[in-house]
Amino acid sequence: MMLDKVKKMMADVEVFKTTSKDEIEAFRIKYLGSKGLLKELFNEFKTVDASMKKDLGQALNKLRNAASTKVQELNESLENTQETKSFYGDLTRPSEPIELGARHPISIVRNRIIEVFSKIGFTVSEGPEIEDDWHNFTALNLPEYHPARDMQDTFFIEKDPDVLLRTHTSSVQVRYMENNEPPIRTISPGRVFRNEDISARAHCIFHQVEGLYIDTDVSFADLKQTLLYFTKEMFGKSKIRLRPSYFPFTEPSAEVDIYWGLETEVDYKITKGTGWLEIMGCGMVDPNVLKNANIDPEKYTGYAFGMGIERIAMLLYQIPDIRMFYENDVRFLEQFKSII
Ligand code: DAH
Repeated sequence: MMLDKVKKMMADVEVFKTTSKDEIEAFRIKYLGSKGLLKELFNEFKTVDASMKKDLGQALNKLRNAASTKVQELNESLENTQETKSFYGDLTRPSEPIELGARHPISIVRNRIIEVFSKIGFTVSEGPEIEDDWHNFTALNLPEYHPARDMQDTFFIEKDPDVLLRTHTSSVQVRYMENNEPPIRTISPGRVFRNEDISARAHCIFHQVEGLYIDTDVSFADLKQTLLYFTKEMFGKSKIRLRPSYFPFTEPSAEVDIYWGLETEVDYKITKGTGWLEIMGCGMVDPNVLKNANIDPEKYTGYAFGMGIERIAMLLYQIPDIRMFYENDVRFLEQFKSII
């Protein structure tokens, strides 16, 4: 009877299998623990008839050995699999957070400008960075000997006929007017190039946004109102002034200043103590420019404006040096992570 019980247990021990540490321990306690089955059986063994003791004793010893070998083997194989595990790391652990990139501050500001102007009906248009003389200069009423045509300012690719890197996005104005009928409401963001020395304030590559509005009866008051809307949306500032200025492609022309304020030391520094900041050029499109692009100046009038994206980004994010935009230093770029 008892021998059968022991044999049955022996079979159980032999088939027992697990990869859980807790189950191995439970198995060990069940068979080999101080109140375990083997302890119980050995106690019972004392009471059995002497004639059965030999076989039963052997069976019990076998069972005890089998149980402790089993525990040892299972623990060993568990250790092996844990070694494999540590090779891969703990696969159940939460993963490293994925590093998200950030938009470049130039893109952030360009997108914001597009957003502000699209709310009042402006489309977005683009033109080539490699331009001809006509679109970059001649059609824009730049006289042949205008200083802006000087070799110092322009990167020429070929001479006669001139092929060059555009020096401003005003070239897109001309292309847009050539290909579209009024009413025209468009802004043209893009990269421009100037043959200038690089410093904290100037770069030979930078970005501009050009604005163009052509329709019947467009006035200077429309221009001012649009720019006021823009400065409110972009900077949260609601005071602007327009100073008379000169651009060959507009008449009259003006520089736009916004009242930045004089609240902090930085305000004093960037406005040179005046509280005012120049942010763009603008004016009423010169009738000659309309004519050059096949638009009847007797029928249509319009305004245009142009601003530098870097300059606006530097103001908004208090970036002290224009070169930081092009160095691709992640410590700089990472700071724009939270802005879309
Ligand atoms: N093209 C000018 C520049 O690069 C900016 C500009 C001024 C554009 C006045 C305009 C404008 O359309 O009306 O400095």
